Amino acid sequence: MRLTGKRALITGAARGIGRAFAEAYLREGADVTIGDINLEGARKTAAEIGCAAVHLDVTDQASIDAAMAVMRAGGGIDILINNAAIFTAAPIDEITRADYDRVFAINVAGTLFTLQAAAREMIAQGRGGKIINMASQAGRRGESLVAVYCASKAAVISLTQSAGLNLIAHGINVNAIAPGVVDGEHWDGVDAFFAKYEKKPLGQKKKEVGASVPFGRMGTAADLTGMAIFLATPEADYIVAQTYNVDGGNWMS
Ligand SMILES: NC(=O)c1ccc[n+]([C@@H]2O[C@H](COP(=O)([O-])OP(=O)(O)OC[C@H]3O[C@@H](n4cnc5c(N)ncnc54)[C@H](O)[C@@H]3O)[C@@H](O)[C@H]2O)c1
Repeated sequence: MRLTGKRALITGAARGIGRAFAEAYLREGADVTIGDINLEGARKTAAEIGCAAVHLDVTDQASIDAAMAVMRAGGGIDILINNAAIFTAAPIDEITRADYDRVFAINVAGTLFTLQAAAREMIAQGRGGKIINMASQAGRRGESLVAVYCASKAAVISLTQSAGLNLIAHGINVNAIAPGVVDGEHWDGVDAFFAKYEKKPLGQKKKEVGASVPFGRMGTAADLTGMAIFLATPEADYIVAQTYNVDGGNWMS
């Protein structure tokens, strides 16, 4: 039990990777709250796995502040996983300003201002903290059809660096995880974009990306939980402003 006594907020954890993080943190003894724009889904997940749920729209400052107030009332916040994000894809000539604004509002501004709110709580508490941002291999390089999402995840890597450097003075470690291709509902959506733009049957892109991972298959949410736990423990105290690839060997940096 490596996280006993630690209070964690995990955003976008109604399903997928965030849900797996919540389950893993619970197994490690943490007191977990999941925050999601999908409150019904978050409540259902929370009931299934045994944690708290709060409505959280990371694009809305009042919603972020309300979630932090819930954390404060319960005893504070020691760990934030900035996990909420959305995916989009389109060739450059079809990108819309509305889609760009939506993705950047959630993936970039949502990450920054949730991080800021948690950091303010952690600074006031005076007991340090751990912030883990979810980047992606998409943030390591561009992709022909994925300009906006890739740029948003590159921004997450950069924000992790700046926030990590700034907040370590308060004993707050900010680091990030860059997954590769992780099977789940998120990737069903990604697959549908590629089916449209690369004219592939549904499920074809998934098979292709899985086969091209050096490890030999797509990742699962469970493949990421070890890093999410480790980065939240005191063993990671000396790790500052880093982004770790957990991707079966897809990218090396
Ligand atoms: N699945 C992958 O292959 C993959 C690869 C690399 C990185 N990632 C990253 O990992 C993280 C989790 O991915 P996932 O596969 O579990 O995605 P997912 O789509 O399954 O889950 C995302 C969750 O975020 C929530 N959400 C969306 N908008 C929100 C908002 N405004 N405020 C609060 N919550 C909101 C959704 O309701 C959902 O529960 C994301 O940051 C994603 O970019 C995923």
